Amino acid sequence: MLSKEALREIEAARAEEESARHALLTALRTVQRERRQVGPEEIAYIADLLGLSPAVVQGVARFYDQITETPTGQHVLSLCRGISCYLCGADDVAAEVRQLLGVETGGTTADGQFTLRLVECVGACDRAPAAMVDDRFVGPVQADTIHALTKL
Ligand code: FES
Repeated sequence: MLSKEALREIEAARAEEESARHALLTALRTVQRERRQVGPEEIAYIADLLGLSPAVVQGVARFYDQITETPTGQHVLSLCRGISCYLCGADDVAAEVRQLLGVETGGTTADGQFTLRLVECVGACDRAPAAMVDDRFVGPVQADTIHALTKL
């Protein structure tokens, strides 16, 4: 199901952490990155890999917005809608990104490249309006940077 590199990443986390539960978040993030989703098949796989119950894995997976049960695009563009970003024009940026990508919030572009999300504070208020492209912070995001964001 996973590449050797991804499997090594999870095994390294398991070896470093004191328990399988402590390695679970690494496993979820790794599987999400590689499979673009953590659905029932992935839940069962992770549970088996770490020796946890599927219910535990699913419970943690559902807590995090970044872990999705359905496939995302190749990249996830997360626009912050927190108060700092809102005050710095995040709504306008979001509207422009929706138009540029041709998708609504939560949607994935027809070419499968981008899934667009609106998220709460990403912890980069000093870069408001901020965004994340996959695991990378970007900001401040303005109209003229939107196009560059989608040219990865
Ligand atoms: S409110 Fe947007 S990064 Fe904090």
